[in-house]
Amino acid sequence: MVDYDHTPVTVAGKRAVVIGGTSGIGRALAHGFAADGADVVATSRGAESVAETAAELRELGAETVEKTCDVTDRESLVDLRDATVDALGGIDVLVASQSAISRSSLADGTEEEWQTVFDVQLDGTYRATQLFAERMDEGAIIPISSISNGLAIPNLVPYTTAKGGIDAFTRVAAEELGPEIRVNAIRPGFVRTEQTGGTYDEGTERHAEIARRTTTGRLADPGEVVGAAIYLASDAASYTNGTVLTVDDGFTHGAFGE
Ligand SMILES: NC(=O)c1ccc[n+]([C@@H]2O[C@H](COP(=O)([O-])OP(=O)(O)OC[C@H]3O[C@@H](n4cnc5c(N)ncnc54)[C@H](OP(=O)(O)O)[C@@H]3O)[C@@H](O)[C@H]2O)c1
Repeated sequence: MVDYDHTPVTVAGKRAVVIGGTSGIGRALAHGFAADGADVVATSRGAESVAETAAELRELGAETVEKTCDVTDRESLVDLRDATVDALGGIDVLVASQSAISRSSLADGTEEEWQTVFDVQLDGTYRATQLFAERMDEGAIIPISSISNGLAIPNLVPYTTAKGGIDAFTRVAAEELGPEIRVNAIRPGFVRTEQTGGTYDEGTERHAEIARRTTTGRLADPGEVVGAAIYLASDAASYTNGTVLTVDDGFTHGAFGE
């Protein structure tokens, strides 16, 4: 029998930081990592949601650090990074799941909206990657992209453009930081979270479009993104670097017509 080397898909024993880890996809990832045996720091700007999520992570058996962070502020990222290294002894995984979105048309949108979305989404991912990589000997960085960057969804110009930047950023960061640090993005389809709110509820035209173009006929639950993140964060992904993993149930190449 041939003896293949095979590394299990797990984050057990790893130390992970999830920015935007107090809501939606990020919170599900933080829970999933903790349930799988990782120590996890879930952070965002809100002290209350950070404390609440930290309590949940402890209940799941993880060691954690309660620390707020704003990705638009380098000093705040440095504080988070250094506090995590002091408490957990290092960092193996960084997830950038922070979110900002604006829903104005190109004609009506303001430059301020554009700057805010970029500052949080793309610049925030750049800052966090740059600063955390300085103190990661090896491991995985996972920016959260979006399938919107391959679509033309009206009234989503800054968001779509920033997410396009995240895919490009992922490729180049992987090239520069690999093989020690692997950088792979996740590109979710439509996931039921604060961000999507009621925009895609049943009865809306957008929900009907999602139903038509996915095999399940529905939005994803945040927990359905967890497996992809555990894989990319795990040592099993040792030969996966610079890629973007789409988790959209086929939406982007979905059914055409009836
Ligand atoms: N939901 C979807 O359908 C979908 C689809 C594709 C991609 N995505 C992407 O997935 C990621 C997560 O989205 P989500 O739907 O889970 O959003 P969400 O539920 O609105 O959560 C966003 C998180 O980001 C934090 N955040 C916002 N601004 C921040 C800042 N300046 N610094 C640090 N943290 C900040 C929020 O907490 P505070 O406000 O307390 O800071 C919150 O924890 C985003 O990158 C989003 O673009 C979402």
